Amino acid sequence: MSKRISIHGQWSSRLMFILAATGAAVGLGNIWKFPYLTGENGGGAFVLVYLLCIGLITIPIMMAEVLIGRRGRQSPVNSLQTLAIEAGASTQWRLLGWAGMLAGLVILSYYSVIAGWILAYLMRMVTGVFVRVTAEGASSIFTQLVTDPERLLAWHTIFMVMTIKVVSRGIRNGLEKVVKILVPMLFFLLLVLVVHAARYGDLDQAVDYLFHSDFSKLTPAAVWTAMGHAFFTLSLGMGAMVAYGSYLPNGVSIAKASIVVAVLDTLVALLAGLAVFPVVFANNLAAGDGPGLVFQTLPIAFGQMPGGVFFGSLFFLLLVFAAWTSAIALIEPLVAWLVENREIERIRASIWTGIVAWLLGVVTILSFSNWSFSFNFIGVPKRHGLFDVLDILTSSIILPLGGLFMALFVGWVMVRESVEDELGGLPGVGFKLWYFVIRYVVPAAMVLVFLQVIGVL
Ligand code: PHE
Repeated sequence: MSKRISIHGQWSSRLMFILAATGAAVGLGNIWKFPYLTGENGGGAFVLVYLLCIGLITIPIMMAEVLIGRRGRQSPVNSLQTLAIEAGASTQWRLLGWAGMLAGLVILSYYSVIAGWILAYLMRMVTGVFVRVTAEGASSIFTQLVTDPERLLAWHTIFMVMTIKVVSRGIRNGLEKVVKILVPMLFFLLLVLVVHAARYGDLDQAVDYLFHSDFSKLTPAAVWTAMGHAFFTLSLGMGAMVAYGSYLPNGVSIAKASIVVAVLDTLVALLAGLAVFPVVFANNLAAGDGPGLVFQTLPIAFGQMPGGVFFGSLFFLLLVFAAWTSAIALIEPLVAWLVENREIERIRASIWTGIVAWLLGVVTILSFSNWSFSFNFIGVPKRHGLFDVLDILTSSIILPLGGLFMALFVGWVMVRESVEDELGGLPGVGFKLWYFVIRYVVPAAMVLVFLQVIGVL
């Protein structure tokens, strides 16, 4: 069968796809969310489950998503529909693409608010506010910021405009050029931070906390959260990787590229843990403090280190870029769909999408002040009302479900020859193993975890 081509263009090389997909994967999830989720869920056992989920469930799903994209060569909604028709299945599979686009919009709405915090922190870093800051000082600066809705709205707006600007320029223009510098730099800076944390913080306790698995602390909620996070961190379950896959040149090995991206992403998360927790323990801060964790610990580290203003500023700048390259991926599926189906220009599609996400962002802004309330999510106390609701709805429900259905689609609906053809680079046994995992292991593992969470097992 002749291969389709995407109307949106193509990555210029395999490396560009890897960098762009790593840019999409590495984001706030790794550096902001992973440490605080680990803290909220008791440490090592959570990390182990997260790693297991990455290896067993999400890497195979990542391959499945990229494959759907490359085969369909359109936005997730249209790729799913085209491939469903090809396989003689219901066109309703496109609803999976719809759920993903909506999830992307909701995630972007709060993602942009948190990225706004980072912009605000960048300003404070540059102006030396954190020099020799104490733990109390750092936490009061954080509280002041997040309880000031007007300030947050301003930063949120700036970040959203930045995002729209890049998305409106298309995939190749700009994005490719920045990721190749930013991704390696992010690694370098994280290493600098880990070295600092090792010298001035309590590295032993942090390593013990992150890698010593005490299964008595492992609640069903922690298992579910770890799995949801494995989807979130690799940008799976909502179509971003389908969209990025649709720009992937033919002939590039989907398996190898996916594994490289997943390994890099996991490394960043672990390094972030090693940068944050030594500081937490050395300053007697609470590991289970939630979303403020990184914002209250890293400034202390930077405040003490020689050249801290410089490194701190650079670090928050890179965090902005990490968030930026992920934010783009969050709305790419929707923007691509609008361009394909509504025949409007990319720029208008980006602006409209951005406006909706921006409006929704107000919910998150107010969750930290006027509208804040607390509740329990399967045993874990959540203190930030609607923000937590949106986060749970997307990361813990829609993304895992979306990922599961992507696996079912590739494993049970798509024509096997098409699947095999796309994974051409995989040697025979490798393909059989992967196909088995996608068809049986992934659905079974996810259902088991789910039954355990709802208390049936
Ligand atoms: N993977 C990104 C992160 O870890 C978040 C994201 C999710 C981006 C889904 C795109 C799509 O921050």
